[in-house]
Amino acid sequence: MKNFIAINGSPRRNGNTSTLLQHAIQGAQSAGAKTELVHLYSLNFKGCTSCFACKLKSRPHGTCAMKDDLSPVLERIKEADAVVFGSPIYFMNISAGMAAFIERLFFSNYIYSDEFIFPKKLPSAYFYTMNMTQTQFEKFGVAEQLKMKEFFTKRILGVEPKILYAFDTVQFKDYSRYESSIFDPDEKFAYREKQFPVDCEAAYDIGRELILQ
Ligand SMILES: Cc1cc2nc3c(=O)[nH]c(=O)nc-3n(C[C@H](O)[C@H](O)[C@H](O)COP(=O)(O)O)c2cc1C
Repeated sequence: MKNFIAINGSPRRNGNTSTLLQHAIQGAQSAGAKTELVHLYSLNFKGCTSCFACKLKSRPHGTCAMKDDLSPVLERIKEADAVVFGSPIYFMNISAGMAAFIERLFFSNYIYSDEFIFPKKLPSAYFYTMNMTQTQFEKFGVAEQLKMKEFFTKRILGVEPKILYAFDTVQFKDYSRYESSIFDPDEKFAYREKQFPVDCEAAYDIGRELILQ
């Protein structure tokens, strides 16, 4: 049986990112996979501390020497057959929690040589959820900002990641309770009703494809 791991880089356990990841999980399950959803913000961990233990010639490569709640997750990812990284966009980039996680996963599996050390090719995907509309996303060139990390994903995990963007997400159930005058809640909810099910379906398909490929 194949193993599928979804990583939630949002502090909201039931927010937009987590909802998409749960659809990917259903897709992976439909293809027969065993699945796991990891909520990064429920774990106590730090980003890479630059100790370089993972690059010592005297030590086996590909293992992060830091010991915290993330350590077993990093080990399970090595055993996985597919992984999805889900992150809300915070100030035009991935969340701090997701960035810290990626530092740990990628740097410990990367050495300063042409050698590839991740134990096998690992198909992956990025799900990004954000307040912005697609027009704003394109205007600000956010895809370019995210591209370098996707480049390292291919370099380290050996496979080009699949990408899903969910634009114009809903943050609050009741916009009238929050200072949020730049948004039109009616437009937001109308867009969500139309588009979010489409995004969830795309997430399901990606979860399934990652297992079947
Ligand atoms: C700290 C913070 C920064 C944010 N920055 C952006 C941003 O730069 N661009 C954007 O479109 N949305 C931004 N957002 C909105 C979230 O990306 C958006 O609501 C996302 O869908 C939330 O995902 P979640 O429901 O899984 O938590 C920000 C939200 C927070 C809390």
